[in-house]
Amino acid sequence: MVSKEDIENVFGELLSKISDSDLREKVVEVWLIAAERGGWNDIEKMKKIPFSLLTDTKGINLFEHTIAVTKGALGLARAQEETYSSLPYKIDFDRLIAGGLLHDVGKLLEVEPDGKRGHIKSHSGRCARHPISGAAIAYEVGLPMEIVNIIACHSKEGEGRPQVVETGFIHQADFAAFNPLLMLGKGLLIQEE
Ligand SMILES: [Fe+2]
Repeated sequence: MVSKEDIENVFGELLSKISDSDLREKVVEVWLIAAERGGWNDIEKMKKIPFSLLTDTKGINLFEHTIAVTKGALGLARAQEETYSSLPYKIDFDRLIAGGLLHDVGKLLEVEPDGKRGHIKSHSGRCARHPISGAAIAYEVGLPMEIVNIIACHSKEGEGRPQVVETGFIHQADFAAFNPLLMLGKGLLIQEE
């Protein structure tokens, strides 16, 4: 059984930056529902979930990815807010952090163990990718539709669709966390000899 404390231990640093306590609680609730529905009953097993099945993630797990993407998006948002003399749009940092922490929560339903210490796409994942399953749970627990937008539209499902500004920050941070590994896998990442 995965507990509220397990999730709070994993995401504590970022959860503490969400000022709205109801929002903070709902982020944890979504992770717990997704874990239950995905059949994950042990936080240690969840720490072994790779953040992507599309390339070798070199041991970077779903939790680490989620934290890195959220911090990356925060960096993008803060850079603009601190630098522009006039920000042309409002950035909601609570929304950004909550959306970042939840953008890939649907992967708990999309991925399952293959029985050989690896992971494969689940039946649920073939029916609905993680942006859809994650958005559905966020909607179910009553999170604001803007956070549903971040989850639903952070990936290719959101291409060309209306988005809150925080969705764009999460999308770009997500790509920045994924692309170097994809390049590495293809032998296209230039590194020092
Ligand atoms: Fe992601």
